[in-house]
Amino acid sequence: MKTIKDTNFKGKRVLVRVDFNVPFDKQGNISDDTRIMEAMPTINKLISDGARVILMAHLGRPKKGGFEPELTLKPVAEYLSKIIKQDVVFTQSLLGDEVTKLANALQDGQVMLLENIRFYPEETKGNEDFAKQLSLLGDAYVNDAFGAAHREHASTATLAKFFPNDKYFGLLMENEVKNLNKLMNNYEKPFTAVIGGSKISSKIGILESLIDIADNLVIGGGMRYTFYKALGHNVGNSLCEDDKIDTAKALMQKAKDKGVKLYLPEDSIVADDFSENANTKYVPTMDIPDGWEGMDIGEKSIKTYCDVVLSSKTILWNGPMGVFEMKKFANGTFAIAKAVADATQKGAFSAIGGGDSVSAIKESGYADKVSYISTGGGAMLEFLEGKVLPGIKAIEE
Ligand code: 3PG
Repeated sequence: MKTIKDTNFKGKRVLVRVDFNVPFDKQGNISDDTRIMEAMPTINKLISDGARVILMAHLGRPKKGGFEPELTLKPVAEYLSKIIKQDVVFTQSLLGDEVTKLANALQDGQVMLLENIRFYPEETKGNEDFAKQLSLLGDAYVNDAFGAAHREHASTATLAKFFPNDKYFGLLMENEVKNLNKLMNNYEKPFTAVIGGSKISSKIGILESLIDIADNLVIGGGMRYTFYKALGHNVGNSLCEDDKIDTAKALMQKAKDKGVKLYLPEDSIVADDFSENANTKYVPTMDIPDGWEGMDIGEKSIKTYCDVVLSSKTILWNGPMGVFEMKKFANGTFAIAKAVADATQKGAFSAIGGGDSVSAIKESGYADKVSYISTGGGAMLEFLEGKVLPGIKAIEE
């Protein structure tokens, strides 16, 4: 991997694609700065080299083809200024004389952030002319946006073409690729994958590839109801993808054929409404009564799942067990977080990815007790599915 590690960028204008797609709370404050903090090793290395750092990032999915005030990166520029203890130059446009002037006026060790790159529709189209214009701002290109590496966009992939000898992986990207390769190609057995989240449809690819390597596949979250229904159980009002019942059956069959143990929760906590104030009850079987919906896994499942995790040497966790955003339904998810941390202390390698599981491990207080937390949601899933990510390919070819 050609990373920034072995090069000194003093005096160079370095275009760095980062993933600053961070969540905001209702007051407009950044509610989770993981992605910003994880990009800091690269930013700090470039600052200490004396590079002139030009950051490119996106926020959300702008639809209007122009500026949208709620998706500006200005608050991120302000946040970053505090972290690096210097003013970050923020440009409202990406192209044009003003931006060129600002880029050329940067001093060694100074940082500039361009406005949300997706305000330009050319970005998501991977437009070559647009990438060429951007390339004129820099002498070198660094991709450190693992979270957006599955997108074949102008700033994540096309731009690399214009820097055939000066394109690099950032340190975050290097760390992600190293850890995910270890997870998929250099793992110790038993390998347990704990997969949750609401929909089976978004996890089919990863479930299929995990069946090829995992010993245990532990299923939680809303997607379990599609499996329950496929087994002929009643799911009440729970989330269920009826059009994926055959997929669930096929996955269970494939797991059986390959000797993979597929665990489904044997009990549930159910509610009569999707709300913290709902009435709740414990259902000791896989059958959910009509009028009720599953919100968390039950005590028996928690015990079984934690035992499986604790006896594993390699653990991948993606997706919560229940609606952990509501305190009442967070037990299953937080118990898994603790089990993953405990297994790691006993010597297992653990990797956690996907926005919700990352929030869960942080809220549980065990974030610093696991081996590795990925900044990628979709990117991590696609990597683990064995797909070639355009953002990685563009630097490697
Ligand atoms: C993410 O949040 O997963 C990345 O920033 C990519 O965002 P996207 O799914 O809008 O491309």
